[in-house]
Amino acid sequence: MVTLVGMQGNFESALKELVELDYDAIEAYEAAINRLENGRYKDVLNGFKADHQRHVTDLSGLLKKHNQEPPTGPSIGKQWLTKGKVVLANLVGDDAILAAMSSNEDDTNTAYERMNERLDKWEDAVEILKRGLTDEKRHKAWLAGSHSQGGNSRNKSEDVDAETSTTSEIET
Ligand SMILES: [Fe+2]
Repeated sequence: MVTLVGMQGNFESALKELVELDYDAIEAYEAAINRLENGRYKDVLNGFKADHQRHVTDLSGLLKKHNQEPPTGPSIGKQWLTKGKVVLANLVGDDAILAAMSSNEDDTNTAYERMNERLDKWEDAVEILKRGLTDEKRHKAWLAGSHSQGGNSRNKSEDVDAETSTTSEIET
């Protein structure tokens, strides 16, 4: 299901759904990381997961500042992401997992774009939402490049791995 986050009538409701979406993304990343074979991909995705955790912290703090109760976990029965944790947990193969996470990042990018475009956003939300969108664009760019066969990102990451292992061999 395509996410509807960011469409709500009032800003605080939209913001609460954005927090749920970030929780959903964290769960999807956890499932993806568990299934991935490539250690380098796991490291990158762990970084992306940490970004989503930071979003939850920042957005929850913002809601509290405005006397709003932030959600404490993922959406229940809403499934904001196209490829939720259940789908991810059943995928086989790094390419399939990264492709699924790439389509999830379409959803998070759409949601953050909508939130950034809203005219009713709180003044103290502007920077947080801008930073969130920058993170989402970075996630999407990496995932879109990494899972294509022979994509540049993958070749580069293999070069980095090779260099790292050479260096460690010299050190030992
Ligand atoms: Fe993301």
